[in-house]
Amino acid sequence: MADSVALFTSIGLSEQKAKETLKNEALSSALKDAITQVQRVHGPSGVDKAMGTLLYSMASRLKDTKRLAFLSDSIGQRKISTELQLAAALEFVKSHPQDPINLKEFEEACGVGVVITPEQIEDAVESVIKKHKEQLLKERYHFNMGLLMGEARSALKWADGKVIKNEVDMQVLHLLGPKTEADLEKKPKVKFSDVFTSVGFSFLGDVMTGEGKSLMEQLRGEALKFHKTGENFKTEGYVVTPKTMDLLKKHMEITGGQIRTRFPPEPNGILHIGHAKAINFNFGYAKANNGICFLRYDDTNPEKEEEKYFTAIKDMVEWLGYKPYAVTHASDNFQQLYDLAVDLIRRGQAYVCHQKGEDLKGHNAPPSPWRDRPVEESLVLFERMKKGLFAEGEATLRMKMVMEDGKMDPVAYRIKYTPHHRTGDEWCIYPTYDYTHCLCDSIENITHSLCTKEFQARRSSYYWLCNALDVYCPVQWEYGRLNLTYTVVSKRKIIKLVETGTVRDWDDPRLFTLTALRRRGFPPEAINNFCARVGVTVSQTTTEPHLLESCVRDVLNDTAPRVMAVLEPLKVTITNLPDNFKSDVQVPDFPANEAKGSHTVPFTRTVYIEQTDFREVMEKGYKRLTPQQPVGLRHAGYVISVQKVIKDAQGKVVELEVTCCSTENAEKPKAFIHWVSQPLVCEVRLYERLFLHKHPEDTSEVPNGFLSDINPNSLQVITSALVDTSVKGAKVFDKFQFERVGYFSLDPDSTADKSLFIMLHHKMYSVLITAISSR
Ligand SMILES: *[C@@H]1O[C@H](CO)[C@@H](O)[C@H](O)[C@H]1NC(C)=O
Ligand SMILES: *[C@@H]1O[C@H](CO)[C@@H](O)[C@H](O)[C@H]1NC(C)=O
Ligand SMILES: *[C@@H]1O[C@H](CO)[C@@H](O)[C@H](O)[C@H]1NC(C)=O
Repeated sequence: MADSVALFTSIGLSEQKAKETLKNEALSSALKDAITQVQRVHGPSGVDKAMGTLLYSMASRLKDTKRLAFLSDSIGQRKISTELQLAAALEFVKSHPQDPINLKEFEEACGVGVVITPEQIEDAVESVIKKHKEQLLKERYHFNMGLLMGEARSALKWADGKVIKNEVDMQVLHLLGPKTEADLEKKPKVKFSDVFTSVGFSFLGDVMTGEGKSLMEQLRGEALKFHKTGENFKTEGYVVTPKTMDLLKKHMEITGGQIRTRFPPEPNGILHIGHAKAINFNFGYAKANNGICFLRYDDTNPEKEEEKYFTAIKDMVEWLGYKPYAVTHASDNFQQLYDLAVDLIRRGQAYVCHQKGEDLKGHNAPPSPWRDRPVEESLVLFERMKKGLFAEGEATLRMKMVMEDGKMDPVAYRIKYTPHHRTGDEWCIYPTYDYTHCLCDSIENITHSLCTKEFQARRSSYYWLCNALDVYCPVQWEYGRLNLTYTVVSKRKIIKLVETGTVRDWDDPRLFTLTALRRRGFPPEAINNFCARVGVTVSQTTTEPHLLESCVRDVLNDTAPRVMAVLEPLKVTITNLPDNFKSDVQVPDFPANEAKGSHTVPFTRTVYIEQTDFREVMEKGYKRLTPQQPVGLRHAGYVISVQKVIKDAQGKVVELEVTCCSTENAEKPKAFIHWVSQPLVCEVRLYERLFLHKHPEDTSEVPNGFLSDINPNSLQVITSALVDTSVKGAKVFDKFQFERVGYFSLDPDSTADKSLFIMLHHKMYSVLITAISSR
């Protein structure tokens, strides 16, 4: 122990660091080997401090010690003498796992022997500054100096970063002079949501955020870690076989290095908000990198598929703004998958097993007594499985491998006498997820197989199977699944909610299926923005719905025109206007930006205001209409004052008689309220969250199950709300902001039944408007 401490301090480590290092067995053993190697060549005092630092850095970063001696020598001979070179050297050995190392290539890749003069640095920095001069003069010290550094560095790959930085600082100072007060001020922070709104689609655009990182960088957050195409072997955990390099080379020839992803839903349910993240990740990552993304239906379970799901899934992908490069099906590959299974048996890696259901389940299932049966026997039996000579459950094909969780020999094929949606009764054996998924990825030459963290446990079987068959093996990358609070998304639970009449259907706006969100009026851009936003922090956090709602408001604020609507009307007669008085009032579609257009609404002797905008008894702090207090009518240019309060037999206020005068002739009222005149009558549905508790599925929070947690006020129907005439002709899913109320979307339940509502000399049509969010 003392010896080792002495050895480590002899290369320049502090005593404390030496002791710390000793606690890490792998590191200290690698470091000892490295030092010994150098000392063997250069003598016991051959390691100086700079070299020692590099050796330490190398020992702590090298994953596979096969190249330890080689790298130690390179450091000992001062071929590798900077951190930059070391990084290149580590990269080189990682990407060249096969022997022997080509020394010439290695030295070229690591800049061995490259000498950079101060003049070269000066010139390089000068030309970079010249290139950005205009922008630099404009933004001064707010300019991203890292960019200059980066560009100078890429021009002079092996130069010392510190020297470059000093040179950049000096030349910038020379150009701009010392910092002024304005230079020292912080850049105004851009609101995150603004950035997303202006981008529209999540993975596009190159907008700077407040942190000075481009949006692209942030969005790619997780994606930054992804391997480059063709460099699958650089990913941690990827399994390299003697065939790997050849297969990758072929793969690169076929794809030309293009990024290829896939979105692989099972066509047995409706997509929900969690899928929106998967869609954005897969399609967005491909799109941002000029790649392609497949929509692949994982249709290997014949029992569960229905035509409606296929169409609904594609609709939703397109609704979110993505176009699949091709729509494929796992079942397209049934024959090829079968042929590969035969090959797998021939290779001795799969066998036909007759253990029954229960014996197959669980981690402690006994090993199959058929595991070592002869290959020939399995081949014959597998053929018989295919021919339908066994009953369901009598035989399966199993792969000879152990999963991460200890489960042995996962099933590759099982027998099902259910006709398949696409292949009819051509097959009675169907491949499992574990067998199908990686092989379909391989067949489609996928580069990045992105999936949620739950699939981490299937990663080794993924690699195992591709390698067992010597086919191209994509890389599986996992990302955090998106969970929202106050909702349930599982198919089974949604079915329960529909069956019990708790919600109307799969697209009930209280649910978080994508069709429900569309119906609730959520624009697709907002959903994509939300996914990008939670994608930035890819952690496995559960997200509250209000974050999504705020993304929605950000988009609708700029896109949903303002109209006036009164949900609980109170009739107001203006007695000092003539009976047939009618004027047109201009209402801007977007009050904050009147250039975006306007619409006109009638103003007559009868208007309707919200019941809550009038109080018979004045209260302190109440700013709106009372018998003592006038109020302004928004956009109309009038102030009204109460003359008479009319009540029904129960004493409820049913009408007001008021007088009006123009705002120019009146004292400025404390408030302006919205109103309608000669309006349309509409049904309005107001929604609140469906569940009372944050985690309705968690029995410690909701002991009697999610069905016992329904918010009794989750739907309020107002059958005769009054909306200004400008919404007439609106189409399903058109969105409006009802001033002072909230955003609303025209619901597909709307009809044009004129006989239902007739009022105020106007033929009404019934618009049915769904509240998506109250302010
Ligand atoms: C994938 O690569 C194979 C060759 O291995 C090629 O035949 C096939 O056409 C490619 N498929 C796609 C979808 O690019
Ligand atoms: C999200 O939900 C799934 C399924 O309920 C669960 O396995 C996962 O741990 C959840 N993630 C978080 C962060 O809660
Ligand atoms: C809505 O947009 C306007 C400008 O278009 C902006 O001034 C206002 O702050 C926005 N409102 C919200 C709630 O973001």
